[in-house]
Amino acid sequence: MSERAGNLNLGALAFDAYGTLFDVHSVVAACEAAFPSRGAALSRLWRDKQLEYSWLLSLMDRYEDFWAVTEKALRYACQHLGLACDAATHTRLLESYYHLAAYPEVPAALARLAVNRRLVIISNGTPQMLAAVTQATGLTAVFDELISVEAVGVYKPSPRVYALLPQRLGMPTEAIGFVSSNAFDITGAKAFGLRTYWVNRQDATPDGLGYPPDIVVRTLTELADRLDAEEA
Ligand code: 2OP
Repeated sequence: MSERAGNLNLGALAFDAYGTLFDVHSVVAACEAAFPSRGAALSRLWRDKQLEYSWLLSLMDRYEDFWAVTEKALRYACQHLGLACDAATHTRLLESYYHLAAYPEVPAALARLAVNRRLVIISNGTPQMLAAVTQATGLTAVFDELISVEAVGVYKPSPRVYALLPQRLGMPTEAIGFVSSNAFDITGAKAFGLRTYWVNRQDATPDGLGYPPDIVVRTLTELADRLDAEEA
């Protein structure tokens, strides 16, 4: 890739949580145990509906927190797929959001990226969800702050969400790099004015709205390599 990160004076990196650090599809095993041969389909639809609900509620100006959104999306996905999900299974699947797996390279890559930079999470997740999943994955100490959209009562990609970063970090927008695997999140953050680093884990097609990422990588290890090389 020929694009440059433009990371001079990069004071902080802000990470999306779900799909970027934590694998939302690590729930497949639990879904599969509950509904044999339907696990992958359930996990996929659950995530898709979760995001769709977040966008709908934001456009409708009817914020409900991300735990409620995730719960309602699971209910929809089971109904759509014709899966009879009893209350205990519903609770067990939902609570897997408290202990999603981190992608394998994440702990070591974050340790590298934290050298000389502040790291924060900025996510749709509730404060409780973010505290639980970072604790379960042993990542609590690497982050200065876990910033939840709950502070502004609207979901990504509202600019009100990304505006929390310069406010909370006390640094100019241009000094903050934003890292996400979610293309819509990268588009929103770039439109706001952040430097954006897209972790294109799934080899997705880039969004074409005119707010391209500053760099594209496949993993956080690759991002650490790129930033190290540019600072050398
Ligand atoms: C997050 O905010 C978009 O789900 C994603 O963590």
